[in-house]
Amino acid sequence: MATVLKIQGGFPLNGTIQISGAKNSALPLMVACLLTDQPLTLTNVPNLADIRTTTQLLEILGVVATQGEDTRTLCASHITSTTAPYDLVKTMRASVLVLGPLVARYGIARVSLPGGCALGARAVDVHLEGLRAMGATCDLDEGYIIAKAPNGLHGANFTMRVVSVGATENLMLAASIAKGQTILRNVAREPEIVDLANCLNAMGAKVEGAGTDTITIEGVSALHGATYKVMPDRLETGSYAIAALITGGDVVLKNTSLDYLPMVRETLEKAGAVFEEEVDGFRIYQNGPIQGVDVMTEPYPGFATDLQAPMMALMGICEGASMITETIFENRFMHVPELVRMGANIQVHGASAMVRGVKKLSGAPVMATDIRASIGLVAAGLAAKGDTTISRLYHLDRGYDSLETKLQGCGAIVERIKVDAS
Ligand code: UD1
Repeated sequence: MATVLKIQGGFPLNGTIQISGAKNSALPLMVACLLTDQPLTLTNVPNLADIRTTTQLLEILGVVATQGEDTRTLCASHITSTTAPYDLVKTMRASVLVLGPLVARYGIARVSLPGGCALGARAVDVHLEGLRAMGATCDLDEGYIIAKAPNGLHGANFTMRVVSVGATENLMLAASIAKGQTILRNVAREPEIVDLANCLNAMGAKVEGAGTDTITIEGVSALHGATYKVMPDRLETGSYAIAALITGGDVVLKNTSLDYLPMVRETLEKAGAVFEEEVDGFRIYQNGPIQGVDVMTEPYPGFATDLQAPMMALMGICEGASMITETIFENRFMHVPELVRMGANIQVHGASAMVRGVKKLSGAPVMATDIRASIGLVAAGLAAKGDTTISRLYHLDRGYDSLETKLQGCGAIVERIKVDAS
């Protein structure tokens, strides 16, 4: 038996959704515990498979983890291993974030290479180039990256060839306890980078410039414990905003902010969305039929690649057409054949997809291929006529906390059901 998500589509979402803490922020913040022998307590931690995987990985390294409903306390006072094994890294690429902190604090780290990924090559070369600039040696042995810096890391001037969120985080973590000053240029500017800088500074680090393209870090000899609240999940926020629009609904998103979504807001407004800011969140609804708009994914503050799939679902029912161009990841159009099975009119030409709006999507059995493709299919299913069943739910569970409950609270007819796997 396999579990699928069954959606009876065609009902507008109406109501309030509480946004959870950001997965992409919580993961590096959890890893920051490796930089101190004192406890790090995080609040507003989402309940997700990736958080459980990260906890498991940290426990393998010797971290003692305790948890409350949405809190995690992590204490790395007695690290017993510096190896991140293949079995965990292959399920979650962000595991590579332990590389920088481990080599910075313990002088050695052995982290499995992530290997094949549904989104393309997703190299870690920039992570390694940065660590080498800080004095580490990085070699590959039997599928593992072995990073060594027996005398600790030193500060460096490092310019990233590629704007990488993960590499920016890895190097910030490492540089916070390296000897001397590190200047990182051409870094990612995502709000999650700012969240990590704020948490590191609360732990005694000296990080400046996060949110701009240059980050300066004065290394300190040791960090201390702290309590820190994870920022709201802007990708979950954007996903539900699009779900509200695609169903013709009217939804209030709470515990979040429009400040994290500048380009998404601008694009959705062009498509016909109305945003009304509220205390601790905003309301979203549509002002007439959805219009086709062109979208190009870009590093923050551009349109987030993680919202490309739900945006494509929305454009599937627009008036007119939309050209959607993916510039961050190769292979990030795997939701296209599934949307086409639901009646969407989409042609892919290299890194661009031409979406011609249709009047109505129709429900169908579809298969999820990654976290964000999954939410694109959920959005399409909510708008479609008839039933949609989405298989491979483990992708959805990596990134969306309490999805069914949140959607049901707004009138959606959605449930997990067991089906014959054959
Ligand atoms: C993070 C997010 C993910 C988001 C992505 C881009 C987390 C846990 N995940 O992923 O949801 O879609 O940012 O916003 O925060 N690259 C290299 N060499 C490297 C590193 C990256 O060539 O060493 C390339 C990648 O192949 C990709 C691009 O850079 O084409 C961006 O990747 P990156 O920003 O590193 O993404 P992640 O940190 O993995």
